[in-house]
Amino acid sequence: MKKIILDCDPGHDDAFAIMLAAKHLDVLGVTTVGGNGYLPNVTRNALQVLDQIGRADIPVYAGHAGPSTLPLVIAPNVHGESGMDGPSLPPPSRPAEGRHAVDFIVETVMSDAEVTLVATGPLTNIAAALNREPRIAQKVQALYLMGGGAYCGNWTPAAEFNIWVDAEASYKVFHSGMPLYMAGVNLTRQCPVLAEDIEAMRGFGNRAGVFAAELLDFFAHGGDAHLHDPCAVAWLIDPSLVRSAFLHVDIELTGTLTRGMTVTDLRPLQTHHPERDLDLDSPHRWDDAPEGAPFRGS
Ligand code: BDR
Ligand code: CA
Repeated sequence: MKKIILDCDPGHDDAFAIMLAAKHLDVLGVTTVGGNGYLPNVTRNALQVLDQIGRADIPVYAGHAGPSTLPLVIAPNVHGESGMDGPSLPPPSRPAEGRHAVDFIVETVMSDAEVTLVATGPLTNIAAALNREPRIAQKVQALYLMGGGAYCGNWTPAAEFNIWVDAEASYKVFHSGMPLYMAGVNLTRQCPVLAEDIEAMRGFGNRAGVFAAELLDFFAHGGDAHLHDPCAVAWLIDPSLVRSAFLHVDIELTGTLTRGMTVTDLRPLQTHHPERDLDLDSPHRWDDAPEGAPFRGS
């Protein structure tokens, strides 16, 4: 099983990312970041999700409460005041670990060359880890992230929530040289929440199924009813699920209408590939990328 650290801000769709990862991957730890809700809430939510699926053995580490440059903007319009409204859950069976998420990320990646990072919230913790130890960019297997979009946003017309909330952190991560697998909203909008799927989950006959249905009962009425975050996890589990292309992506920091946009270079002759071992003749557009092609964007 692939070893991962899942950095998240649960969040209904983050809960699905956690559940999917706990089932199919070796989750060394779940780290939390302020995003969909405030840090104490998303940390409690992560602990509760793991309790619901009987995986209280997976440690949870709280990270940064918000961006270092601007106040945190949360998303109660999508996820409710708790960050994960809907299911009525008992308090977590245990507290989060005493260690800071950034310490855990840096020390784990530097001591184990097989770790993949998965990020389904703002990139504040990952950027802080890079600031602390830039060598993690070369050490880590890859970063799979839910964020951005190739020429579409959701929080603004141009920008997706996770990238927009901490655009400076996103810029740091996208310029780090880390291999990035970006599950943007152009991909995740292909995963809508359907009423029949909710009922199928409710009928699974186990606690996880009922929990999943209760999450979606709320989330499907919250506005942006797409299962964004599990797409990044699913992509890592089974790369054949996603058709992708290797593209240069940069983060807009200064645009008055476009701050937080993932500016995606779709030009067929673009040449600024950071990875030198790539075949520059390989397709640059997702509509003709070969299976398994390296990419930035999906
Ligand atoms: C992203 O923002 C949050 O609302 C979701 O959890 C997801 O990570 C989608 O834009
Ligand atoms: Ca999220």
